[in-house]
Amino acid sequence: MSKTIFVLNGPNLNLLGTREPAVYGSQSLNDIERDCRETAKELGFDVDFRQSNHEGDLVDWIQEAREKAAAVIINAGAYTHTSIALHDALRSVDMPAVEVHLSNIHAREAFRQVSTISAVVTGTIFGFGSHSYILAVRAVAAAL
Ligand code: DQA
Repeated sequence: MSKTIFVLNGPNLNLLGTREPAVYGSQSLNDIERDCRETAKELGFDVDFRQSNHEGDLVDWIQEAREKAAAVIINAGAYTHTSIALHDALRSVDMPAVEVHLSNIHAREAFRQVSTISAVVTGTIFGFGSHSYILAVRAVAAAL
């Protein structure tokens, strides 16, 4: 069985640390990658950590996960609220999948309170800043 957890990040998450720090915190995506890797290693897993601003890349990577990953963690950024393509891609994944968000999307604008992907993932973790990712790594490791 694969021991690799795919951690996929969508649009604008490359700007973490400088983008709206009051909402998203001061950690960069590199900091989050390092913390995910450390936690995964403790639990006996590897992390393949990626970011793209393009919806199709995320679809391709979810499809790749079907062949290569043990689990998927995804912060789809704003595509969370709009993407039927990500919904369909995640629907076809037969492994633990966790939707993560740094912010509490239910305490924000109405358009952020809708997720196209929540119904097709194993579970969702949001509102704990960068720690949401660590909780997600622990959650998929426990599910495996
Ligand atoms: C986000 C929440 C989304 O609404 C937003 O578009 C993001 C980040 C989060 O991690 O809190 O880009 O996914």
